[in-house]
Amino acid sequence: MKYEFDRLVDRRGTYSTKWDNVGNRIGNPNALPMWVADMDFPAPQPVIEAVRRRAESGIYGYAFLPPEFREATVRWMQLRHGWDISQGSVLYISSILPVLFAAVQTFTEPGDKIILQRPVYYPFFQAVENQGRVISSNSLLLRDGRYEMDFEDLERRAADPRAKIMFLCNPHNPVGRVFSREELERVGEICLRNHVLVISDEVHSDFIYPGHKHIPMASVSAEFAANTITAVSPSKSFNTAGLRAAAMITFQDELRDRIHAVLQNDRSVSISTFGLDAYIAAYSGGEEYMDQLIPYLEGNIHYLDHALKAGMPKIKLIQPEGTYLMWLDCRELGLKDPELDHFFTDEAEVGLDKGFWFGKEGSGFMRMNVACQRATIEEAVRRMQRAYDASDFGPCQFG
Ligand SMILES: Cc1ncc(COP(=O)(O)O)c(C=O)c1O
Repeated sequence: MKYEFDRLVDRRGTYSTKWDNVGNRIGNPNALPMWVADMDFPAPQPVIEAVRRRAESGIYGYAFLPPEFREATVRWMQLRHGWDISQGSVLYISSILPVLFAAVQTFTEPGDKIILQRPVYYPFFQAVENQGRVISSNSLLLRDGRYEMDFEDLERRAADPRAKIMFLCNPHNPVGRVFSREELERVGEICLRNHVLVISDEVHSDFIYPGHKHIPMASVSAEFAANTITAVSPSKSFNTAGLRAAAMITFQDELRDRIHAVLQNDRSVSISTFGLDAYIAAYSGGEEYMDQLIPYLEGNIHYLDHALKAGMPKIKLIQPEGTYLMWLDCRELGLKDPELDHFFTDEAEVGLDKGFWFGKEGSGFMRMNVACQRATIEEAVRRMQRAYDASDFGPCQFG
């Protein structure tokens, strides 16, 4: 079927974090919501039908994990990423973040270090600091408009005996990198040699733009597979985050048993019936949707990039290789973070994630979610252009 991604959906008044909580989280209830990683598109038809069937049954009791959950995961990983995994490697989890929290709890002691690559998805920090561990940031380097890993720094950090885990975010939120096989080989080798366990968050792995390929960290070699715990989910790809169903993939029995015991211990992993149905439907038949969604998102990105270059040249889009989260380099505006926030939130009235939330490396940047109808991008561009032209750094200063 043909999906109509242009069709506007009014999400206000639906308890949507993105739309109904923009005032609290971003600071202006009138800001056009383009923040949290949640799409404004309805889920694929097979997902809607599965959820509808469940809803119409009227019975929403406890579920057990059926073989279809693992079969669908194995199928999707093979189909989309050429990754052959066994059904036994797949475990149900309610969402991605509990894996990061549980890994820290399971494999580290208070005071130990967790390596991550700022600027990065900020809840990673909470998984470390809320549990009395220490962040070791192998910060990404921005060179000629593209982020790269700093391997010398990673070597040093991994060699620290207190470094026990590395959180890898691939594709990387917010900088949009899809790491190459060579990069993953170097990361994997450094971590293996230094006994640093890799937790690979691959939740954005279905959003890959032409010219790039997602390579699951654990697919690179058998040694890496044994030293990696991977978290995947249809939640970003098919807009089912509110349904709470995801998967953890591990190939090493001891690792799996230990982290699974921690995840089970407080009974926080319990199966959502709607989530299960949506998960199985998405990974069993979501490819048609995904194949149409990627070019639509590319169109949004192209529109935004063109508008920035033509009318707001001091705001630069870091070209994404994956994800629908655009990392905007606003440093040329010459604004301090509170002023930059004020510019977008109050003057332009577009609600974006603030770059400094992603760590000090995000200072001077903003993150914009373009998984929305083209009309929303157009409206955002109009609002930004108006504010840009009215400000000191707009065209007036030259003319
Ligand atoms: C990199 C990354 N990991 C994890 C999550 C959250 O996933 P979940 O809701 O499944 O915990 C997000 C959501 O934006 C994300 O971008």
